[in-house]
Amino acid sequence: MDPIYLDHAATTPIDPEVLQIMVETYQSAVGNPSSIHSFGRKARKIVDDSRHEIAKYIGARSRELVFTSGGTEGDNLAILGTAFANSHKGKHIITTKIEHHGVLRTCAYLESQGFEVDYLDVDRSGRISIDDLKSKLRHDTILVTIMFANNEVGTIQPIREIAHLLAHHQAYFHTDVVQAFGTVDMDVKDTPIDLLSMAGHKIGGPKGIGFLYVRDGVSLKAYTHGGDQERKRRAGTENVPEIAGLARAVEKVGERLHERIQEGLKARQIMLETLDEEQIDYKINGNPEHFLPQILNLYFPGTQVETLLTKLDLAGVAVSSGSACTAGSVEPSHVLTAMFGKGAPETGSSIRISFGEGMNETRLREAGRIIAQSVRELTTIGKSGELM
Ligand SMILES: Cc1ncc(COP(=O)(O)O)c(C=O)c1O
Repeated sequence: MDPIYLDHAATTPIDPEVLQIMVETYQSAVGNPSSIHSFGRKARKIVDDSRHEIAKYIGARSRELVFTSGGTEGDNLAILGTAFANSHKGKHIITTKIEHHGVLRTCAYLESQGFEVDYLDVDRSGRISIDDLKSKLRHDTILVTIMFANNEVGTIQPIREIAHLLAHHQAYFHTDVVQAFGTVDMDVKDTPIDLLSMAGHKIGGPKGIGFLYVRDGVSLKAYTHGGDQERKRRAGTENVPEIAGLARAVEKVGERLHERIQEGLKARQIMLETLDEEQIDYKINGNPEHFLPQILNLYFPGTQVETLLTKLDLAGVAVSSGSACTAGSVEPSHVLTAMFGKGAPETGSSIRISFGEGMNETRLREAGRIIAQSVRELTTIGKSGELM
């Protein structure tokens, strides 16, 4: 069978129209946007128009966007940039235990630089509590960074409540929208978010490009030093073709937001129906109400996640888990550990299935049956004690 890709939360295949625009831009816009001659002006116009399109989509002003190399850089710039620019007001930061490493490791670095970081707990569905956040807020808190939706389990945080809570506090509010962008309506005019980071490669855009929204008036210190690009917030020649591709990808998901949500929900339903028909024992990890439709994290009791992923890969189904291989040993997912506790069975027996454009029902059912078969084989082997 042709392998089936169900790992869109890791990255998405590039949209052919986006690719086309990039190829055309590579061919037609050869100048450096900082050059004053006609070649430079042509490249500059592409960057400006793209910025305008993207800003419009999130309800921002063009000058509030900084192009970055993706989610990790956006997270780093938001966190380091505000921390170092505002340390005279305080050195306290709040985040959660389930952030992407782009946030967690940046916060850990800041701790090594004398900042103090509180990591909020989450409940078993992956949500933080607003009361907990309130109790951790201090007069010297300068930044709260909480992801819009989690990349492993898809749980959406109470972003509007957090934003409104912080609207009257000195702390800036940063949210990583890398996974939520394209299936959640996002408008920074409605929700007082100060900084928001996204990556193009999760929405059919090119890899290695994204943006950070920085609300006018936010005090941010650049950490790349060089040219004056991006209003001195990010030095270096702009990646013009990828910026053009990113703008088209954003425009496309904007046009299809509603359909994308429906398609995600449908894919999810087909997968769960298939597992039910196959009488497989599973449990959904995540919040039953506040979730991204395209991410389905499932716990299969009695399985061992690495063995299951390898088996699925060999059978032609590409999915993933949040566990990471470090120095030859497997670290369980920090997200599932925060949700269920250290050593809980969910942390070693769960996989993430994530859906995207171009899925069809037949293929999804086929993948569901392969998953069911693999789970059945592993749990049967486990029970008989032949292999563990
Ligand atoms: C929530 C979240 N934040 C940040 C990132 C990092 O983005 P990038 O790979 O573009 O650096 C990812 C990527 O998986 C993500 O899921």
